[in-house]
Amino acid sequence: MLTEIPEYQFKSFVQEPRKGAVPQNFSEEAADRVHRFHQQLPNYNPTPLANLRNLASVWGVGGIFVKDESPRFDLQAFKVLGGSYAVARLICKKLGISLDETDYAYLVGDEARRRIGRMTLTSATDGNHGRGIAWAAQQLGQDAVIYMPKGAAASRVENIRAHGARVEVTDLNYDDAVRLACRMADENGWHVIQDTAWEGYEEIPLWIMQGYMTMCKEAVDQMAAADAVPTHVFVQAGVGALAGAVVGYLVNRFRECPPRFIIMEPNNAACIFASATAGDGKPHAVTGDLDTIMAGLACGEPNPIGWEILRDFPTGYVRCDNYVAANGIRILANPLGNDPAVEAGESGSVGIGLLELLAGHSAFKDVRRTLKIDADAKLLFFNTEGATDPVNYREILWYGKYPAVSMPR
Ligand SMILES: Cc1ncc(COP(=O)(O)O)c(C=O)c1O
Repeated sequence: MLTEIPEYQFKSFVQEPRKGAVPQNFSEEAADRVHRFHQQLPNYNPTPLANLRNLASVWGVGGIFVKDESPRFDLQAFKVLGGSYAVARLICKKLGISLDETDYAYLVGDEARRRIGRMTLTSATDGNHGRGIAWAAQQLGQDAVIYMPKGAAASRVENIRAHGARVEVTDLNYDDAVRLACRMADENGWHVIQDTAWEGYEEIPLWIMQGYMTMCKEAVDQMAAADAVPTHVFVQAGVGALAGAVVGYLVNRFRECPPRFIIMEPNNAACIFASATAGDGKPHAVTGDLDTIMAGLACGEPNPIGWEILRDFPTGYVRCDNYVAANGIRILANPLGNDPAVEAGESGSVGIGLLELLAGHSAFKDVRRTLKIDADAKLLFFNTEGATDPVNYREILWYGKYPAVSMPR
């Protein structure tokens, strides 16, 4: 069922999940292995899960839980989980050992360094992935060269340079910046650590996706500690690697009764939505400037590993405008009663902005009903980044940039 509400710049597509084979690479055992690695990293701490009880009661749902990645390793985003795991796996491959047989101390020790020397890692990024790669390279004694698409926020560039990486801001969109990173790697003998995949380049992107499982495992363990099981999981997509990992892991974990998954994207970069609505089972790219404030979601070409999962298991796909993400930022920063405040960046807040539409406005009541968002629903969201562009964050929060569209309640 396709719902289009043009005056609110909103489209949703709801399907019966197809229930394909349970994704093998995202088993609970695989997630435990990844988690064991992350626990060895300096300053590892699980990020908090915000339980927004008052908001849930105002919006008439059973629970709203927001996994808050803004404090992750002081890097303001979940992305480092993927980059660090992939770099560690690459080093192990070079050393001819398995990550299970070794530990972080060995990987950063003199013997490992002597055996593999110094590698240069390269990647294209809107900011968060590159910051994670630069950090991982610094921790593991490697070099990094990072390419950024046009319009990259100065704060995001500086955050990557701060970890010793060389950064080049290009005049390309994200997908073309990825192609540039690959060409430079070919010419210079560097290693591409990219957070999306294509034919013939799948091993590293799979490791990156597996790395994201730590976030998801922590979140459902934290929900379990609060006696809650997610009935609905809202997850945003750029190329769909994060969403694919989240869905893949949760389908494994809750085999008998998986939650409903809702995938969210910005209007101008909705390649997963385009692929789902095309109905031929294939990934479809969208092109152009991919202009959106949700910079981390500004990707036009689906990750094929993620797409295979996102084709089969989600119930809903939504594309929406900038104001939805901006509303999400304002709502999370202004908690009700004793709910905790959450600092959310533009790519982290869109889920709560979407729930505000569904919960508060008559135009969306059919979508809400179809998705069964009701008093029994326990909803899990991922605030995937903090205020990584602090200037825009303040414009939104203090000066009401990208205002809510006025609509009947
Ligand atoms: C903050 C944030 N959230 C979500 C995403 C989406 O991840 P993916 O591109 O794997 O869909 C990104 C990607 O960079 C991001 O930076």
